Amino acid sequence: MRHWDTPFGPVIAGDHALQALDAWLQTHRASYSQVHILTDGQVHEACLPFVLGSLEYLGESSVLEVEVGEESKSLEVMHQLWLALLEAGADRQSLLISVGGGVVTDLGGFLASTYMRGMHHVAVPTSLLAMVDAGIGGKTGINLEGFKNLLGTFAPSQGVYVDPVLLDTLPELHWRAGWAECIKHAYLQGGTLWDEVHQVADLSELGPLVPAFMEAKILRVQADPYEHGLERKALNLGHSIAHAAEASLGSDLLHGDAVALGMWVEFHIAHSLGLCNASDQMAMHSLLDTWWPERRSLPADLIGRLRADKKNHAGAVRMALPGNPGAPVTLIEVSDTHIQSALSSYASH
Ligand SMILES: NC(=O)c1ccc[n+]([C@@H]2O[C@H](COP(=O)([O-])OP(=O)(O)OC[C@H]3O[C@@H](n4cnc5c(N)ncnc54)[C@H](O)[C@@H]3O)[C@@H](O)[C@H]2O)c1
Repeated sequence: MRHWDTPFGPVIAGDHALQALDAWLQTHRASYSQVHILTDGQVHEACLPFVLGSLEYLGESSVLEVEVGEESKSLEVMHQLWLALLEAGADRQSLLISVGGGVVTDLGGFLASTYMRGMHHVAVPTSLLAMVDAGIGGKTGINLEGFKNLLGTFAPSQGVYVDPVLLDTLPELHWRAGWAECIKHAYLQGGTLWDEVHQVADLSELGPLVPAFMEAKILRVQADPYEHGLERKALNLGHSIAHAAEASLGSDLLHGDAVALGMWVEFHIAHSLGLCNASDQMAMHSLLDTWWPERRSLPADLIGRLRADKKNHAGAVRMALPGNPGAPVTLIEVSDTHIQSALSSYASH
């Protein structure tokens, strides 16, 4: 079992993480007036029976279920969830437990941090992507008019409990989506983690590496909790292009697949600006090409969509671009010409 203290609460990972959550409930359940569990339809079926069966001290609880997918990160769904809590009589002494992928942990974090100015929240991430990234670090959010995570909060949780056994039911395409964030963490950390991702041949064997990817993120969150500096902003690697592509393509593109595409394009830009060298760009491109051999057709309005990115300043598009593995990123203005040239290279590669 691993345990980290972060500015947004403890993170516990390992084969007995659900037992650890149960032990926490044994101590704290009596102080909560109600417990609500947020999940989506697929996780409800695949994981919830096992999770609930592991929590002897949960007591009475109700389940709030949202539809599967990114569309649930909307103001409309949030409105329904606020109302559901209100109608159930939830108060500031109620607890919300989010059980699901990044959509559910983002939604649940936002719901808990806004309902009555904040109720307690526990997260049980069930997808690889949520375990190594979305579920940890205190960022919550929903989308607005297709713009990703435009509304959100930084919010603490009472705990994040990561049990890799929950990955047993994760569909293959979502393993690959989570793998994109693992590759990102590994490049940013450099050293042996970056070497190790090149040795991986089968994603279903990733379970034992999950704590290493989690730690890569946690170290950045500890160093720069509110993203005032570059330490945490580095986690945006690939995300400028990814968010713009997701905004254009909607649910046709999984977040992790968008990050893979985004890293391909942003490494091209970083190299053309002299920030990372040719061999590092090639190493990243060949890793991405191995796992994402298909090319997505890119939307014509992608550059326009980049203008709504949270990293921009005074109307100029800024990206967090990579240096060499393990080196800090550079937050830099990028011209349309550089972006267009990288997009063309991606499309023709
Ligand atoms: N807050 C952050 O710091 C942060 C960081 C990265 C990504 N994100 C967000 O995370 C979201 C993507 O997360 P995601 O990829 O987990 O998407 P997701 O929550 O939609 O989960 C992917 C799919 O896998 C299913 N699923 C999850 N766990 C399962 C399991 N164990 N067994 C069977 N099915 C399972 C879900 O039902 C869903 O269909 C995006 O909205 C992204 O913006 C947030």
